[in-house]
Amino acid sequence: MDHTQLVRSDVDGPIARITLCRPDVHNAQNLQVWEELRDIGRRLPGDVRCVILAGQGASFSSGIDLAVLSGRFLSELAQSPDNAADARLSEIQAAFEWLRRPDLVSIAAVQGHAIGAGLQLALACDLRVLAADAQLRIGEPGLGLVPDLGGTKRLIETVGYSRALELSLTGRSVGAGEAMRVGLASIVVENSELDDTVDDLAAALLAVPRNAAIETKALLQRAVTATSPDQLGAERAASLRQLRHHLDES
Ligand code: CAA
Repeated sequence: MDHTQLVRSDVDGPIARITLCRPDVHNAQNLQVWEELRDIGRRLPGDVRCVILAGQGASFSSGIDLAVLSGRFLSELAQSPDNAADARLSEIQAAFEWLRRPDLVSIAAVQGHAIGAGLQLALACDLRVLAADAQLRIGEPGLGLVPDLGGTKRLIETVGYSRALELSLTGRSVGAGEAMRVGLASIVVENSELDDTVDDLAAALLAVPRNAAIETKALLQRAVTATSPDQLGAERAASLRQLRHHLDES
């Protein structure tokens, strides 16, 4: 295995900039990339509040490294006992899942291609800022695979069931304009403005008091599956926590 670092993490106070560093292969993701992403999430300093995820070069990420598809890993996985295979897949999913932690807001800065696992990584982030040349594509079913890195839930939450199914089974590319219309993008900007726009967005997110941001994100996340009475109860509890927090601080 190549032991050059494939994912860089630069932490500056409350902001962590995480960069996929395989521009020669459009930031294709292999086992090492997933391991590094998972470790970065585990080791993130507690005072980080905003994670910016980007890809070096022309594309955000072209998805799974085709060498993984043609190598031994997937056939060995398929032949493993159920428990071992499930645990291995769960470890890979952990590379993306931490991006939804309530104490962080994650932003994907997407230029060029975001295909398959690349799109799932962008979907794992809370927000997606797209450059005008962005092309998003769900490549898994076309290759006889399924999106298995958290992408199916993110996708239906973002675009709804019917469009999620259409995009998944046609595998067609979605440009930045359509991505904005269907809710896959939070903002679309010219390529030259991508970095500045993401920095401005991060600054705006950090202007909100930390406790209120964490409580609000947790409420929004649970609202997806909660019943109305249950969610109202959660809002009351969070509200009281916030009011008491202010009282303690004053
Ligand atoms: N894995 C490995 N290498 C890749 C790659 C990938 N996913 N994507 C691109 N590359 C390599 C190319 O092989 C090429 O290498 P060489 O220079 O050695 O020939 C180099 O990157 C440049 O690529 P292209 O010349 O093809 O560049 P392009 O601009 O014409 O096209 C692209 C870019 C649209 C990303 C195209 O390369 C492409 O379609 N790549 C494959 C995308 C794909 O099918 N990904 C898998 C999705 S499914 C998935 O991810 C599964 C999952 O979640 C479980």
